[in-house]
Amino acid sequence: MKRVLRFALVFLSILGMVLDGAHFRGGIISWRPLNNTVTGSTAQIQIHQRYFWNREWSSFPTPYCTEANVAAQTVINVGSYMTCLANCSGTSYTQLSTNMITTDCDSNPIIESWAGEHYDVEILPLTTSITIGFQSSAWFASLYIGANDPWSIVNRLNCAPRPDGLLNSSPVTTTLPVVFYPRNTRVTHVVQMADNDATDYLVCRWSNSASGTNYNRVDECSGVCSGLPPGTILTGVNCTLSFTLPTANLYYGCALQIEDFFSSSYANPMSSVPIQFLFYCYTAAAGACATAPSIIGVRPNRACIGVPVGVQLNETIEIQTYCPGQTIVDLVTSSPTGMTHSAISNPSPNLWIMTLTWTPIASQDGPQGFCAGAIDNSSLQSAPWCITYLVGYDSPNLIRPTLVQGSASPIGTVFSNQTLFSIQATSAVGRPSLNGTNICFHLDTTNASVLCYDAGYSPNVIYTGYTIVIVTTITWTPGQSYYVTMDNGFASGSVFCHAESLAITDKTFWRFDIWDPALSSTTTTTTTPPTTHTVTSLGTTTTSINTACTTSGIVVTSTNASTTTTTITTTPPTTAAPTTAGPTTTGATTESTIPVFYPLDFENACKQPVAIMSAVMMVAFMPVQTLVMYAAFTKFTNMFKPSNTAAKARHQQRMKNILRR
Ligand SMILES: *[C@@H]1O[C@H](CO)[C@@H](O)[C@H](O)[C@H]1NC(C)=O
Ligand SMILES: *[C@@H]1O[C@H](CO)[C@@H](O)[C@H](O)[C@H]1NC(C)=O
Ligand SMILES: *[C@@H]1O[C@H](CO)[C@@H](O)[C@H](O)[C@H]1NC(C)=O
Ligand SMILES: *[C@@H]1O[C@H](CO)[C@@H](O)[C@H](O)[C@H]1NC(C)=O
Ligand SMILES: *[C@@H]1O[C@H](CO)[C@@H](O)[C@H](O)[C@H]1NC(C)=O
Ligand SMILES: *[C@@H]1O[C@H](CO)[C@@H](O)[C@H](O)[C@H]1NC(C)=O
Ligand SMILES: *[C@@H]1O[C@H](CO)[C@@H](O)[C@H](O)[C@H]1NC(C)=O
Ligand SMILES: *[C@@H]1O[C@H](CO)[C@@H](O)[C@H](O)[C@H]1NC(C)=O
Ligand SMILES: *[C@@H]1O[C@H](CO)[C@@H](O)[C@H](O)[C@H]1NC(C)=O
Repeated sequence: MKRVLRFALVFLSILGMVLDGAHFRGGIISWRPLNNTVTGSTAQIQIHQRYFWNREWSSFPTPYCTEANVAAQTVINVGSYMTCLANCSGTSYTQLSTNMITTDCDSNPIIESWAGEHYDVEILPLTTSITIGFQSSAWFASLYIGANDPWSIVNRLNCAPRPDGLLNSSPVTTTLPVVFYPRNTRVTHVVQMADNDATDYLVCRWSNSASGTNYNRVDECSGVCSGLPPGTILTGVNCTLSFTLPTANLYYGCALQIEDFFSSSYANPMSSVPIQFLFYCYTAAAGACATAPSIIGVRPNRACIGVPVGVQLNETIEIQTYCPGQTIVDLVTSSPTGMTHSAISNPSPNLWIMTLTWTPIASQDGPQGFCAGAIDNSSLQSAPWCITYLVGYDSPNLIRPTLVQGSASPIGTVFSNQTLFSIQATSAVGRPSLNGTNICFHLDTTNASVLCYDAGYSPNVIYTGYTIVIVTTITWTPGQSYYVTMDNGFASGSVFCHAESLAITDKTFWRFDIWDPALSSTTTTTTTPPTTHTVTSLGTTTTSINTACTTSGIVVTSTNASTTTTTITTTPPTTAAPTTAGPTTTGATTESTIPVFYPLDFENACKQPVAIMSAVMMVAFMPVQTLVMYAAFTKFTNMFKPSNTAAKARHQQRMKNILRR
């Protein structure tokens, strides 16, 4: 009976082939529960299908898609279904249409791709553990292996609660429909994989046709099983392929299953996500540039960005070319539904730009992948550049410090032995998943960076709640001003895929000055050594706030290292020391002077309750910042003792030298 059914299916497939021609070019199927809490005996599962087709599709009203079809969200009339293929008892799964909404259309003669995607929601019993898939015919003719063969793309949908009692979400992935690599060159290709269940252990493996023994119990790849040349190596844990393409002007089908395990010690995966796409092998033309174009910024590759629903997103893709005459002719993309692509512009030599516009809608909640690859007029393709948009989630952003004792510490004037820095974000943050995400301290005068830490792994950068603490190990130069820059993703959201904060490059965002003891008193009048002028830190008072006081206890200044201040001149001096600003006029050795602030002056100044922070803001800011800084002090002082000690010794030596002068 089964065999008869299969024959019928094959027969239908052949009919399909007659209708469709050889159009299939790969795809992805994934799913997730709308809510991962178990309630009752059923779950609402959202199932995502994305397929790539040949752009030339005769059964469709328009012979070729264009960007207008993307904007109009034209339906690709596949006229077929994703059915249940194995273990189908015990479920109410009903077959889903494979008609897709157009998301990308690529007219490049090598790519000729028409991509679409579709989301459906089904209510399924928790006993569902089925293999669903789309099997028909056929792959196109120019394949290294599998030319004109039928296709099969399958996914395992298992609604059983996980060992932690929650419903599982399958891994998610994204790819370009066609990735270009030169002939006879060993290449490394990374397939992106991510999972909403952050602790899952992900492994990818080759799809295979062993329907009797494989996990999905069906032929997972049909014509393109082992579609890559012999000698291809797949490293499953990071889904990295290494291969050499032997024949130019041919396409190579790649079929993988990405599987999530509750932990590495579990034998069976909880789902199995197929990803099928093509590699294209070329021989570089004689006049080709030695360097393929590359997509530089505005976002880093593999970034994850939170985007709110209903707000138009304007994303710019910047492409760099490296030779005169190297022209970007195409940007191949794989986009979420509704994202439109501008024409490619060339605003300056060697720089090419495409703008993406997209207003996510509520039903797109969750991760939405986007990939792009730029192609020049010698058919050189850039490395794929992929980002994940987390719809319905706001990326954390670093809060610009506007108040003393506010979101960043320290600001104003600090001692040259300052080692603890902290900044707050708008939501809970964690370490970025990518190395190369730096925080740098720059000298204001030259813009030179004096200190950088890679937040990807540096133990000097500590993430805790809403706050990031940076422990520095250098002695700042007295009298200098510094500012801090942070790369894209320095603060990453602590939810799935770590939606990233925007880069901070603005010199005025977070800056501080280093107190110069040599200038701390008027050279003409003082006889007191500067060391006695050190100010006791007010620490973190929670009862009053005064912008004249910095987090370090030294008077705040405007923008440069001189500590001239007018805000506190009204405070009556409690000691004999001069507290007014201005140059002294005595004699030829005139020097700009600054007020020296004795501890008591300082405390007086800061006692004035300036109602800048409302009670609410105090509640919001202070406990977090104060507690975290306190915790950081006690916790990390010991951790960084050796370097601190060294820094302290250097500092003392320097102070001595200054005093000796
Ligand atoms: C998921 O369902 C639980 C239980 O019904 C509910 O408390 C929770 O708010 C839901 N979560 C979301 C995001 O809807
Ligand atoms: C699926 O069905 C096969 C037989 O076709 C069986 O061997 C396998 O255990 C079933 N898998 C599950 C998860 O029920
Ligand atoms: C993938 O993992 C293998 C083995 O651990 C390693 O050699 C390789 O460098 C990794 N590739 C990438 C791109 O991280
Ligand atoms: C994107 O551009 C549109 C039109 O120029 C503008 O209305 C919108 O606010 C922009 N979106 C963002 C997030 O800046
Ligand atoms: C690419 O286009 C530029 C400008 O039209 C031209 O000068 C160059 O020769 C072209 N390169 C190739 C390999 O066709
Ligand atoms: C930093 O230097 C000041 C002034 O010399 C000193 O009072 C303070 O204790 C030092 N702080 C640390 C953490 O070493
Ligand atoms: C980041 O760099 C550190 C130090 O070089 C290395 O140990 C770590 O494996 C890297 N992590 C990634 C994800 O590349
Ligand atoms: C430092 O950077 C700012 C802004 O990026 C620029 O205006 C200024 O000229 C730079 N200064 C130096 C010395 O390079
Ligand atoms: C620093 O501030 C003083 C006093 O406001 C001003 O005279 C001086 O020009 C400033 N220096 C720089 C480099 O901006």
